[in-house]
Amino acid sequence: MNVLVVGQGGREHALCWKLSKSPLLKRLFCAPGNPGTAQIAQNVDIAAEDVAGLLRFAIAEKIDLTVVGPEAPLCAGIVDEFAKAKKLCFGPNKAAAEIEGSKAFARELCRKHRIPGPGFWVYEEMALARSFLDNRPDGPLVVKASGLAAGKGVTVCKNNEEAKVALAECLEKRRFGEAGNKVVFEEFLEGHEVSLITLTDGRTIVPLEPARDHKAVFDGDKGPNTGGMGVITPVGILPRLATQIESQIVFPTVHAMNRENRRYQGFLYTGLMMTPQGPRVLEYNCRLGDPETQPLLMRLQSDLLPLLLAATEGKLETQEAPVWDKRVAVCVVICSGGYPGDYKKGVPIFGLDKVASGPDLQVFHAGTSQRAGGDLLTAGGRVLAVTAMGNDAATARARAYEACKQIEFTGMHYRTDIGQKA
Ligand code: GLY
Repeated sequence: MNVLVVGQGGREHALCWKLSKSPLLKRLFCAPGNPGTAQIAQNVDIAAEDVAGLLRFAIAEKIDLTVVGPEAPLCAGIVDEFAKAKKLCFGPNKAAAEIEGSKAFARELCRKHRIPGPGFWVYEEMALARSFLDNRPDGPLVVKASGLAAGKGVTVCKNNEEAKVALAECLEKRRFGEAGNKVVFEEFLEGHEVSLITLTDGRTIVPLEPARDHKAVFDGDKGPNTGGMGVITPVGILPRLATQIESQIVFPTVHAMNRENRRYQGFLYTGLMMTPQGPRVLEYNCRLGDPETQPLLMRLQSDLLPLLLAATEGKLETQEAPVWDKRVAVCVVICSGGYPGDYKKGVPIFGLDKVASGPDLQVFHAGTSQRAGGDLLTAGGRVLAVTAMGNDAATARARAYEACKQIEFTGMHYRTDIGQKA
């Protein structure tokens, strides 16, 4: 099969890495890709948001399956456009991708279909939103831009004063543009976070292994939220709780989307908070998580390609359940100085050649670029995702951090406590 992966981050490097091992694969392309994907696929200079360009390429190169990594093209309707041209494209269509594209829609969906989540309030007008804050008891609150904001639209506020600042960024200063036309206030939930990603064709539902992301930028879950600083998988969930998550949240969500006439096909990412009252939906994403994908795909022993093809064709029931390596995988994200705030690009990266990659250790490129002479440079906030396997969390952590120490660039930083609580 000829496969095109769309995207340019660590998630897409991991997708290419896994798909490149498939015996079904003939040619693998990545658009636009990064220096990591260039080692295993042919990078194509088409932006992930250029749906028309991607479709033209898929037709010209006889691509059998296009696999979309990021949310933006999914929310823009890439799957619908490919379907019109009778080209297979893995992921939810535009209507289904709204589960991530509109936080307000996702929350209303949960309320309507009784899927447990935090209390929430949606506002479009500044005066009404401010009045809500003036009249609620002071305390923590989560403020979200309803639309897509490249992972920057969520602010966890300690009190109403902070919530007012986050609100003004959204509705008044228009920091997120149209994505901030609506603001969603959510009750702050405490507990342990778990990411559960499910592969579904809208009928058959295949949960992947649970993972734990570490969103805050600094050790001890301090500092502002990021796209994700590191992940451990699996996370110990009691079988009873796993059943509860599936039966009360994941299955009802897929069914709810069917009832809303938005059949969901693709990866559905459910961000959960394990509270004393039970699991609650923190967020949905219409795609694989980044960096959850990196350690999950290292643990996945089954061939990914037939699973993606079957989900796209609505035949997931024909596939065996995926087989997982029982060992632990830990992914540590190395970031540019200043991230998640402003950061410099084009900083030379050293030491990658010293890292001995193999089945138990992979360094996935996220925000990197390559100079004509071959020098590797930083090109994003999250630069590299160092991912290691081990018989237990301590071994996987030690292996990942040993590799991190080999890598150097000015300003780099990473959390030193990924998976420590495990
Ligand atoms: N790691 C969180 C996300 O992919 O949204």
